[in-house]
Amino acid sequence: MALPLQITALGSAPAALALPDLPWDVPLSQWPADVLAALPRGISRHVVRFVRLQDTVAAVKENTEELVRREYGLLRVLRRLEVPCVVPIAVVTGRSKADGEPLDPALVTQHLQFSLPYRALFSQSLRPDTATRLVDALAVLLVRLHLAGFYWGDVSLSNTLFRRDAGEFAAYLVDAETGELHNELSDGQRSNDVEVARINIAGELMDLEAAEYLDEGVDPVEVANSIVERYYSLWDELTGTESFEQGERWRVQARIERLNELGFDVGELSISTDVGGSVVQIQPKVVDAGHHSRRLLRLTGIDAENNQARRLLNDLDGYIAATDRQNDQEEIVAHEWLARVFEPVVKAVPRELRRKLEPAEIFHEVLEHRWYRSQERQRDIPLLEAARWYVEDVLAQRPDEQALILQAGLMNTGQLAAVGMDGDEAPLLSGVDDPDDPESDRIDGWLSSHG
Ligand SMILES: Nc1ncnc2c1ncn2[C@@H]1O[C@H](COP(=O)(O)OP(=O)(O)OP(=O)(O)O)[C@@H](O)[C@H]1O
Ligand SMILES: [Mg+2]
Repeated sequence: MALPLQITALGSAPAALALPDLPWDVPLSQWPADVLAALPRGISRHVVRFVRLQDTVAAVKENTEELVRREYGLLRVLRRLEVPCVVPIAVVTGRSKADGEPLDPALVTQHLQFSLPYRALFSQSLRPDTATRLVDALAVLLVRLHLAGFYWGDVSLSNTLFRRDAGEFAAYLVDAETGELHNELSDGQRSNDVEVARINIAGELMDLEAAEYLDEGVDPVEVANSIVERYYSLWDELTGTESFEQGERWRVQARIERLNELGFDVGELSISTDVGGSVVQIQPKVVDAGHHSRRLLRLTGIDAENNQARRLLNDLDGYIAATDRQNDQEEIVAHEWLARVFEPVVKAVPRELRRKLEPAEIFHEVLEHRWYRSQERQRDIPLLEAARWYVEDVLAQRPDEQALILQAGLMNTGQLAAVGMDGDEAPLLSGVDDPDDPESDRIDGWLSSHG
């Protein structure tokens, strides 16, 4: 007799309430187009599909019960450790067809908005340094996982998702199936992961090369080897001990600033002095990243990557200074900046173009475009004018990132057939009202001159 369908979900995931409505008695590969969402997806051994779940999109992956439960558990812990990874929603077991034939259990995760599988990024034939930037982002992710005691076991570009981060990339772990959590990793475990990464990246890039998706300037082996150097230099910068003479205390601050620049926070600094008191040693204990992201989220509710957040915060700080609001409560000024600066720029982008990039990235690119245009014309360009130019000159020419992989024909036909296209827009910013129109002169002045 077939077991009853069982859904184990996190209490805090409201989307889980809609889970029983999905056609669990049908193999995932045959799910009807009306429950699916057409979004770019990487290659995988298991069947993975994106589905609509209330207002959100979720990824469903079929696997054995043991592996589904294991991955679900690991992702939950990784979330608690604040490591960038996909968010687990539920485990579905006890599936069977109408005739009683058992079906594989499934893992449901939240779809990571605006994430791109690496094949989609390469298919755009981006600048040759794209490969290097992806590897850099993966090196940062690997260091973060290792600091948290997570041994990945299957580090690769296809097990990672990338989101744009102010011209760079931020990497997220998507496939935790092979991972193990330890209190602390040994040097051997870490170097194993780095070696697996090197070999997998070389193989993945060679595949792209063979399919002629790789820019000619990219040498797969060279790019793959660069992860080793990037990983170890980052690890040393984060965990290394530094010695300096008494009286050079500024170097402590400099070290902290370097770490913040890299997107890491210093949780605790162990400082020791030698017997004579002349040499000081410091070793930072690096905690989770996201220094800037958290401040931006707290102040404005915008959930952005760290570099994007830094860019937006610089702009906000400029606004605070220009409007002479240093003594006002930061949250209040931030709210005003959101309504008067950030949102008008995002709204200057026609709705149909907004799904091309997420709002924080659009804002960042408008600032860049404004700087570039101002240089070119040797005059200050108002922000909204820059936004309009940006829409015409840059954004309108770009491929829509959500539909990228379909355009590029990188999915195999089976996958293509199973994925329905839809015309829904990606949510932009929810709960945003029209900003008050009459802006004060001071703000107008700032809008037309800052940058
Ligand atoms: N939550 C998610 N958000 C966005 N994309 C996702 C998500 N979950 C899975 N994907 C996409 O599906 C692909 C396959 O997922 P995953 O790597 O977990 O499958 P797999 O079959 O275990 O892979 P492997 O072949 O490495 O064993 C990913 O590369 C990614 O593109
Ligand atoms: Mg995978």
